[in-house]
Amino acid sequence: MQTDLMHWFDMDAPVFAFSHCRDVVAAVSRAGGFGVLGTTHVTPEQLELELNWIDDHTDGRPYGVDVMFATRPPEGTEQLSVADVKRVIPPANTRFVNDLLAKYNVPELPREDSETLLAEYMGSLLRTHTEAVKRLDVVFRHPQFVRMIVSALGVPPAAQIERAHTLGMKVGAMVGQVRHVKHHLNAGVDVLIAAGYEAAGHNSDIATLVLTPQIVDAAGSTPVIHAGGVARGRQIAAAMALGAQAVWTGTLWLGTTESETTELIKKKIFAANSGDTVRSPFNTGKPTRRLKSAWTDAWEQEGAPKALPMPLQSILINEALHRMEKYEPEPLVTYPAGQAVGMLNHQTDVRGVMYELLTELGTTVEHMQQTFNGDG
Ligand SMILES: Cc1cc2nc3c(=O)[nH]c(=O)nc-3n(C[C@H](O)[C@H](O)[C@H](O)COP(=O)(O)O)c2cc1C
Repeated sequence: MQTDLMHWFDMDAPVFAFSHCRDVVAAVSRAGGFGVLGTTHVTPEQLELELNWIDDHTDGRPYGVDVMFATRPPEGTEQLSVADVKRVIPPANTRFVNDLLAKYNVPELPREDSETLLAEYMGSLLRTHTEAVKRLDVVFRHPQFVRMIVSALGVPPAAQIERAHTLGMKVGAMVGQVRHVKHHLNAGVDVLIAAGYEAAGHNSDIATLVLTPQIVDAAGSTPVIHAGGVARGRQIAAAMALGAQAVWTGTLWLGTTESETTELIKKKIFAANSGDTVRSPFNTGKPTRRLKSAWTDAWEQEGAPKALPMPLQSILINEALHRMEKYEPEPLVTYPAGQAVGMLNHQTDVRGVMYELLTELGTTVEHMQQTFNGDG
């Protein structure tokens, strides 16, 4: 098998893997797939360290970087600073978050830590074009192995697409609606990643079985990657039958030994069924999918505050997420995960996952050929 994408990125397997964990990214690229590093909330300095490390650990294989280009902030919040936070976040929303954590006895942070956390978060938040470009400057210093940058949300700016192309990098973009395809193509995007309803993180209100073929049709000769729900080789075959050239996976890697997820999160992931995730705007202001917990349930209840627009909702809950990560109040703890979580039930490593995916892909294609030939 050799698709355009596999050729461009020197891949042996049609599998892209999104992860915030550099070990997963490097291991997937080493195993013949294409690892893509998530970069939300790393500073440019941290990003430089991460990319140096991955460059040294992919055995010369390429990888990608997923970037949150600056979002247009709500009116009046363009130059938001730490001092403004109290003004723009409604007190009732802050009270809701504090009361919920108190109900589950989650300790408060010392005042100093709380202030430092907020200052760091506001510093790393991509609100302005200048801040986004600082991170891209780092990425563009790694053209030897970074072979694709991907826009996590929205159409990437033309100037950045041009910079990437000059360095020989491809530009990808996540897309959840057919009407957005033309904007990406007009901007010069090389690869579209169709992220459907099942997927972890920001996704679509449309299921992948319906979304992928429509994106493929609208994309013309631009390659499309199917994102959402993939945990087995059978699903790779299905995605390729829909016209995708590869699959883009995230949830699948959360249960690997290389993953950054804690013991408790792994326990929750292996215990979860496909119905145990929820798609809601209470994480970032736009709908994302994550594991259900007492935290996500509380936001869904009547009387709970509505989600604030980006980036205010994530500013509101940043400290709460940090406290949950630090103290791990079991009922509240949640993590981004897609419906494929119901197909993960034991820990393995990246190589093992890749081996299982490709073995099942091979047998599926064989069975399909037999079926179509009438020998099945
Ligand atoms: C823990 C986690 C965090 C994610 N964060 C991002 C992100 O920052 N940017 C992004 O483009 N996608 C993010 N995603 C979504 C993935 O890129 C991908 O679209 C999705 O995981 C594919 O569906 P699947 O989870 O069913 O495999 C995240 C996924 C997971 C599991």
